[in-house]
Amino acid sequence: MNKREKFVIEGGKPLKGEVTLCGAKNSGFKLMIASLYADGRSEIRNFSKITDTFSTGEIIRNLGGEVIFGENHIVTVSGKSLSNWVISSGQGKLSRAATYFIGPFLSRFGKAVVSNPGGCKIGRRPLDRHFEGIKALGAKIKGQDGHYLISAKELKGTRYRFPKVTHGGTDVMVITSVLAKGKTVLENAALEPEIDDLIAFLNKMGAKIERKPGRIITIEGVKELKSASHSVMPDRNEAVTFACAALATKGDVLVKGADKKVLGAFLEQLDKVGGGYEIDGKDIRFYYKKQLSPCNILTHPYPGFMTDWMAVWSVLMTQAKGESVIHETIFENRFAFFEQLIKMGVKVKLFNPRVPRPEEVYSFNLKDDRPEYFHAARIFGPATLKPARLEIADLRAGATLILASLIAKGKSELTGAELVDRGYENLDEKLRGLKANIKRTE
Ligand code: EPU
Repeated sequence: MNKREKFVIEGGKPLKGEVTLCGAKNSGFKLMIASLYADGRSEIRNFSKITDTFSTGEIIRNLGGEVIFGENHIVTVSGKSLSNWVISSGQGKLSRAATYFIGPFLSRFGKAVVSNPGGCKIGRRPLDRHFEGIKALGAKIKGQDGHYLISAKELKGTRYRFPKVTHGGTDVMVITSVLAKGKTVLENAALEPEIDDLIAFLNKMGAKIERKPGRIITIEGVKELKSASHSVMPDRNEAVTFACAALATKGDVLVKGADKKVLGAFLEQLDKVGGGYEIDGKDIRFYYKKQLSPCNILTHPYPGFMTDWMAVWSVLMTQAKGESVIHETIFENRFAFFEQLIKMGVKVKLFNPRVPRPEEVYSFNLKDDRPEYFHAARIFGPATLKPARLEIADLRAGATLILASLIAKGKSELTGAELVDRGYENLDEKLRGLKANIKRTE
């Protein structure tokens, strides 16, 4: 059985000080997998010491590849000794990585076996858009019970239009088509900056990938890729977590590495609610300025307000004066954390708004929706949060409950601390650096 860990938080104090962001969770492990195309050692700098990165390292080692986690957040990866093309179900469920391996496996072995990925339980998260794209490149896919055999003697460039925008699907198609013969054109591709980080890395390896206006990516197939060196972009989700923590605790925190370019939709909402921030080159200072106002949020693929920010933003809105609405459109079941917030005294009403064209508004496949899922929440603030014993269900929910416990005066206990390690490096330690009273126990 996995070890269960707990956070014990004595809340009610403003956060103060400075914190430096780590490399993006949703980029680092993908670069490690892309490195498997080359026999030489790629150097990935600024990787995050999080479970998602380490489990990818473990999978690559089990496949015979070389991974060396070095000092100063540098990991080197080589695919030279890769000897296995199977991601077992035990390994698959460790993260979202499984389908990212298909490209490197096909290029070396002409076949791949992958099983369903794991990751946060925030919806069904099927892989139809990944697999349809890979089939369009000429691969054959047989699969049942979450195991898939993919085979192709050679991949051929193609024109593929994603039926709906998908971040992971876009990543996987970019990775898989780099060595395909001829040109691949991806239409209706996702615009997430983490995808650009992956593209930048692959281009350094010798790929020929370009973003074109109108959600188009073109990939000119090349014959081979060589090793490269790249620094992972800072984590914009971590930036928003610290920003919301600073504002919700009426504090003042300098977030080093917070890039205004990738935080546009967040800063726009801060302007509306009256959250204080000051941009200083590559850093942003977030500070409490005045009583926050409520607002309405619709989560949206990049450049919109990101789904991963929605839960921490909800905590912030419990401190705004009036009624705020959060409408989650990316995942069909991402509101489980509200049950925990209600224990702390948050007043919230979950509902399903009338949506005239749900097919266009929601990113999930409508057939994955269930009558018991809610897609919107009305939050009534300001709420006086009281400490509680809480259960962390997933990564972002974990950060959210930590935030709420930092606001609540008194002692809260949160079980499931290890889930937060999937995407935040030493979150408790970083918060202690901002004068939070947070301890971690088994
Ligand atoms: N979807 C399908 N079929 C597919 C692909 C996606 O139905 O083939 C659905 C998903 O179930 C979801 C929606 O489409 O409802 C959007 O999914 P997307 O593929 O865009 O998301 P993802 O690749 O699974 C990544 C991040 C998420 C982040 C989303 C949106 C990684 C490892 N994960 O997930 O990060 O929320 O993009 O930007 O890159 C997190 O960090 O907490 C997290 C969940």
